[in-house]
Amino acid sequence: MPTQQPPRTLPAGAVGCLVNQPLTGTFDLYQRVKAHGKGSSSNRNSGRLGCNVVGRKGRRRRFSAWTVNVIESVDRYVSSEQGAVTLEGAGDELEDAVMGPTGRPYREFPEPTPLSSHGPARVIAMVNQKGGVGKTTSTINLAAALAEFGRKVLVVDFDPQGALSAGLGTNPHELDLTVYNVLMDRKVDIRDAIQHTGTENIDLLPANIDLSAAEVQLVNEVAREQVLDRALKKVEDEYDVVLIDCQPSLGLLTVNALTAAHGVIIPLICEFFALRAVALLVETIDKVQDRLNPRLQVDGVLATMYDARTLHSREVITRLVEAFGDKVFETVIKRSIKFADATVAAEPITSYAGNHIGADAYRRLAKELISRGGAP
Ligand SMILES: Nc1ncnc2c1ncn2[C@@H]1O[C@H](COP(=O)(O)OP(=O)(O)O)[C@@H](O)[C@H]1O
Ligand SMILES: [Mg+2]
Repeated sequence: MPTQQPPRTLPAGAVGCLVNQPLTGTFDLYQRVKAHGKGSSSNRNSGRLGCNVVGRKGRRRRFSAWTVNVIESVDRYVSSEQGAVTLEGAGDELEDAVMGPTGRPYREFPEPTPLSSHGPARVIAMVNQKGGVGKTTSTINLAAALAEFGRKVLVVDFDPQGALSAGLGTNPHELDLTVYNVLMDRKVDIRDAIQHTGTENIDLLPANIDLSAAEVQLVNEVAREQVLDRALKKVEDEYDVVLIDCQPSLGLLTVNALTAAHGVIIPLICEFFALRAVALLVETIDKVQDRLNPRLQVDGVLATMYDARTLHSREVITRLVEAFGDKVFETVIKRSIKFADATVAAEPITSYAGNHIGADAYRRLAKELISRGGAP
């Protein structure tokens, strides 16, 4: 197979396409690929000249011959007169200029300081009335990342489908007490329904299909929007963060979650049709803030299932940033099958595949949230 010739002129954005990747260490990898050059690959005999580079944490990454060609031409460009002029003054700061996918310079967030005591909890609702946007996945993995940083986390399954409960290893059909009982029966102590999970520092208030009846039954309750808030108050001093995984609707249960919350995280799949749903959601958040919960704020919009190879994903992020500005988390969650694998294993990705970029992304999200004041 003939290798492609290096591009004669530098393709527009080539420096970008190499170092723009939202991966820490990419620049470092770039330096290493440079050192290897082409043909250091074990596939040399097949004629596929590329190179394997051992990246951070010992992960091997393969760069194709084409990528190596581009890297070499970037290198020639950087060493050329024109390149020297373009990059003048950039010097060592080139790395700082690496753009993240949201169009802001890529940066690391500080390591969270250990907490000496726990509580009161900051309550965060994970809301989007669309299904399949990554609410449950983000609840599990953000919780796990916060737990790794020593935060005590309570996750509340607020979806009758019970995906969060199942994803943390409980069988939703075998539960005696769930969030449903806590909502509907004042005699039930929330502590009796809360379970420890297999992950240290994460407790779960589980749900199952029973919860689907609550939406109707709550209608007749006094202060029906505040039922969850009242229940959570009893345990707020025992946790640092409470994450509520909402069902895909803007009904009374979701309004309960928004009423109990200090902040909202909106997970949003990087597809155009997903953008439309957000306007309605923002309207609901405004109404709840106005009528029921003045402290409520949007903590951030989290782009999920991002695929850097598609223009579509990149355009959706551009639109998101136009609409929400700095509210869009700089951390973006890439599309990866590992998330589904971790769900099957009923584990957070941080323990199922702790070195995977998906695990790192949720750790970065946890750090970003803490550094924004969204969690202690
Ligand atoms: N970053 C991701 N990459 C690929 N698949 C994902 C990702 N996040 C979630 N998924 C998968 O997408 C599906 C829907 O995600 P889920 O978190 O259940 O969404 P929601 O709770 O909003 O309905 C699940 O099968 C999940 O495994
Ligand atoms: Mg869900």
